[in-house]
Amino acid sequence: MLQVKVPATSANLGPGFDCMGLAVKLYNTFTAEASDRLEFILEGTYCDHIPLDENNLLWKTACLLWQRIGFNPKPLKITTQGHVPPARGLGSSSTAVVGGLLIANAIAGYPYDRFELLKLATEIEGHPDNVSPALYGGITLTVMTEDSVVPRILSKNPSFKAVVVIPDILVETEKARGILPTAVPRNDVVFNSSRVGLLVDAFIHEDYHLLSIATQDRIHQNQRASLIPGMPEALHSALKAGAYGAALSGSGPTLLAFCPAGIEQRVAEHMQNALAKNYLQSTFMALDIDPEGAVLIEE
Ligand code: HSE
Repeated sequence: MLQVKVPATSANLGPGFDCMGLAVKLYNTFTAEASDRLEFILEGTYCDHIPLDENNLLWKTACLLWQRIGFNPKPLKITTQGHVPPARGLGSSSTAVVGGLLIANAIAGYPYDRFELLKLATEIEGHPDNVSPALYGGITLTVMTEDSVVPRILSKNPSFKAVVVIPDILVETEKARGILPTAVPRNDVVFNSSRVGLLVDAFIHEDYHLLSIATQDRIHQNQRASLIPGMPEALHSALKAGAYGAALSGSGPTLLAFCPAGIEQRVAEHMQNALAKNYLQSTFMALDIDPEGAVLIEE
């Protein structure tokens, strides 16, 4: 029996569109057992909308890896314990991709190392910002080159809490990407690239007071505000309540605030109130950063 525990992730972190992300201590766990047919069992809080046939993302990903190495697919009984809310910008699809790759790789005798798995996961997702922290843990910056990726782990155990405020709506990533303009004015490129530099510096030097500026963005967040009523106000209220910085998590609708320990609840309530003024209900979690990424247990 194989079990993989994959952390939820938050991508972009403000200006780092498609390249920065972090892993949090909230997990989807996938168990794979040998079986005479493909079979799925769903457990946990969030299991709606998971296909229970060949279209299951974990299964499709596993088959892709096996196809690449010429390995015959083996039917499995796959149990999903879902604790990461789907379609909320917390990397739930990435947990299935990473889970599928780690399980398929183990069954095939470990032909790929974690870096090769990241390359394949990036190819599947189209960008590495969720899959990189899901595989390595911590806060990551991952650069795509023509035929590879350059992953950097900036920090594993930062002292802040990641407060995630999860609105009670779903946002499909495809739609949230579709509304972004294809061209960005030069001054916005300068705005974002300078802040990505500052963000990296803030994490490496643990200078979290820089995050109020370093998490600012001009190329995707406001463009997505129509999908998340009250988002700009909620991000602003996080800072007013004492958060170091705040950003849209992935393509939303979840909002992420970097908080000094002790004020998580206050920050979350301010953010939730701002959303509620726009008739958007939400829940929140105060999470630590996951330092190790996906873990595979073979029994
Ligand atoms: N970087 C991606 C986006 C994350 O913002 O669209 C969601 O997959």
